[in-house]
Amino acid sequence: MPIIVEKLTHTYMPNTDNEFVAVEDITLTINDGEFFGIIGHTGSGKSTFIQHLNGLMQPTGGSVTVDGFDMSDKKQRAKGRALVGMVFQYPDYQLFDSTVLDDVSFGPKNMGLDEEEAKQRSIEAMRMVGLDPELFAEKSPFELSGGEKRRAALAGIIAMRPKYLVLDEPMAGLDPSGRREILATINSLRDELKCTVIMVSHSMEDVARSAERIAVMNDGRLYALGTPDEIFSRTKELISLGLDAPQTARLAQELRERGFEVPEDIYTNERFVSWLKGRMNDA
Ligand SMILES: Nc1ncnc2c1ncn2[C@@H]1O[C@H](COP(=O)(O)OP(=O)(O)OP(=O)(O)O)[C@@H](O)[C@H]1O
Ligand SMILES: [Mg+2]
Repeated sequence: MPIIVEKLTHTYMPNTDNEFVAVEDITLTINDGEFFGIIGHTGSGKSTFIQHLNGLMQPTGGSVTVDGFDMSDKKQRAKGRALVGMVFQYPDYQLFDSTVLDDVSFGPKNMGLDEEEAKQRSIEAMRMVGLDPELFAEKSPFELSGGEKRRAALAGIIAMRPKYLVLDEPMAGLDPSGRREILATINSLRDELKCTVIMVSHSMEDVARSAERIAVMNDGRLYALGTPDEIFSRTKELISLGLDAPQTARLAQELRERGFEVPEDIYTNERFVSWLKGRMNDA
């Protein structure tokens, strides 16, 4: 079953002088098995929005239903939350145990699995995210690099086998090769676990290749929702909203402004190269 969000609004510190509407009137459905991207400028409400998907935050208006469970109802929320694995924006917040293995198995143990099963699942999860258990199980989480910390945080969530995997800026702060590796890991996890992936990013490049549908947030509102083709055909508009457009999309846009007829659906390197080859053959 899908995640259904209806007229979701979240106001921080309501009825005070500091009242702030961070998410406003968002209605959308995330389908089973979908890779759903969420992009938007900094402060557009992405993190606030996704924290409603596991019931960490409560709507101040509207509703969120996960797999049929109403997340505003206390009892149903517990059931819905068990299906949603959330990897937070800052992985350090999630790592606090003395070894990586202890850290990864914290979630599965908390689910009520016995020690041995939690350990088995955690070791399997470490392999899946590309952290060799032989090398990493006994390390301190604080010895890990940025990319390894992301992987460890991801493993701790995967070990709980969530139906919905929610990732908040999983590539932020990593270098280009680290970004590519994490994205490849996320894609292979999705194939293996058949889970729904919801990935937040302020960079269009990150979501351009993987997401099947993309929601664009702007000032707390849903600005646009569509396939990558639909969304990136509006690159110029998105740049004006403060988003990082994929480099290729920027280049294509610049060429258009100089009078070249570059089709709107050229926003990845692969497409750009094949378009260019076509042009060269024509010439
Ligand atoms: N606890 C809070 N109290 C008051 N305002 C908050 C709180 N948390 C976030 N905000 C504000 O709500 C808005 C949306 O914040 P949010 O973190 O959801 O944005 P974001 O799109 O995730 O941004 P980023 O790309 O920087 O992670 C921002 O203006 C932020 O300052
Ligand atoms: Mg955020």
